[in-house]
Amino acid sequence: MNSSLTKNLPIGVFDSGIGGLNVLNRLAKKFKSENFIYLGDNKNAPYGNKTLNEIKELTVSSIDKLLSYNVKAVVIACNTVSTNLYGYLKTKYDIPIIPTVPPVTVAKTAVLACTSNTAKSDFVKSFYKDRVISFSTLAKDIEDNIFSLENLNLIKIFAPLPKNVTTLILGCTHYSFLQSLIEKNLKIKCLDGYDLVANALEKSVIPSNISGQKIDFVGNSGAFNQQVFLNFYDKNL
Ligand code: DGL
Repeated sequence: MNSSLTKNLPIGVFDSGIGGLNVLNRLAKKFKSENFIYLGDNKNAPYGNKTLNEIKELTVSSIDKLLSYNVKAVVIACNTVSTNLYGYLKTKYDIPIIPTVPPVTVAKTAVLACTSNTAKSDFVKSFYKDRVISFSTLAKDIEDNIFSLENLNLIKIFAPLPKNVTTLILGCTHYSFLQSLIEKNLKIKCLDGYDLVANALEKSVIPSNISGQKIDFVGNSGAFNQQVFLNFYDKNL
């Protein structure tokens, strides 16, 4: 495609549900001259315990849907999809596909928190080895309680963490909604990989030169995702 045609097209952002809104927020703030289209597949969330074939089918159908909006790139704002399927997706599509993966740290006191499927990925097994704590229902618990997160019992949820942990790597985009509660109540610092996503995106697309950024929410739960985004991030959208 001719670059003068592609540059002002929107950027697609995809997650199984609300988690990717945390990535969208970081990107929208950094790239003020880009329009975004967010697609959350909330009706089929969580992806963390599904088979890889099921996730592949759902992801392909969501990316195809984003392509129908003529996006110039797709950010996979889901660690579960990125750590397991990025290799497949980047060869399947001829626009840039940008993954979200946990930042790699070798510090012994840093532990990765992620979904069961992310924990099983080769990426996590090779970089994190046994410094991983996986959760089978936490993403869903966050999705279901997004407007009353203070009711989640963080002490109980994170009880399996070793006592010397100083840093929690957020390896599921849903968990970012708990960041301030974790830092305040458990006194553990949280880290995410969203600046890495922004850097990769910057290198992959021709920048737009629009003014008045637009963010649209599409898919089976567009209105809900917009409401969550407005509530947490952008009151003036
Ligand atoms: N937010 C997603 C992730 O980063 C997936 C959560 C889920 O659907 O299980 O892994």
